[in-house]
Amino acid sequence: MLLQLAKMKKDIETRKDIELLVNEFYERVKNDDLIAFIFTAVRKVDWNKHLPVMYDFWENILFQSGTYYGNPMALHKQLHQQVPLKQEYFQRWVYLFDQTVDDLFYGENASLVKKRASSIAEVMQMKILHKNDFLSGKPGLTN
Ligand code: HEM
Repeated sequence: MLLQLAKMKKDIETRKDIELLVNEFYERVKNDDLIAFIFTAVRKVDWNKHLPVMYDFWENILFQSGTYYGNPMALHKQLHQQVPLKQEYFQRWVYLFDQTVDDLFYGENASLVKKRASSIAEVMQMKILHKNDFLSGKPGLTN
């Protein structure tokens, strides 16, 4: 039954598909009990501007469209100064993203976009939460 349902879903194939995914994802983010406040209160995101940037971002990742020129790492580092981005926030972000993808799509690109989101979230956390300080020889682990 589950497999049958999965087969009825299509893969992410066009920019229109990406728009659907991004719109639905941020609807869920806006209504989330843990992370919504970062978007609605801390940052007061202008959705008319943010959503098209996110279409470009994901279109670039999936279809190498060359449409995104931003610097998400810098933006999230700055955001972390405004509100400490905890590991559980990242976990919730990734959870909502994966759920949205799975509810709407099924296929190679659907799997790929989830993998990319998770690995970017991992790198962001390493850079922002300095989980890799020990690699650069900074004290902390042993003393
Ligand atoms: C704790 C998790 C996260 C939070 C709370 C968060 C929050 C935000 C906020 C508030 C903005 C700014 C919107 C604005 O001011 O216009 C933003 C932008 C953005 N986020 Fe995140 N984010 C998170 C994780 C991620 C992850 C994992 C990715 C990528 C997979 C990502 C990709 C982006 C991109 C591409 C932008 C737009 C940057 C630009 O304007 O060029 N975010 N995020």
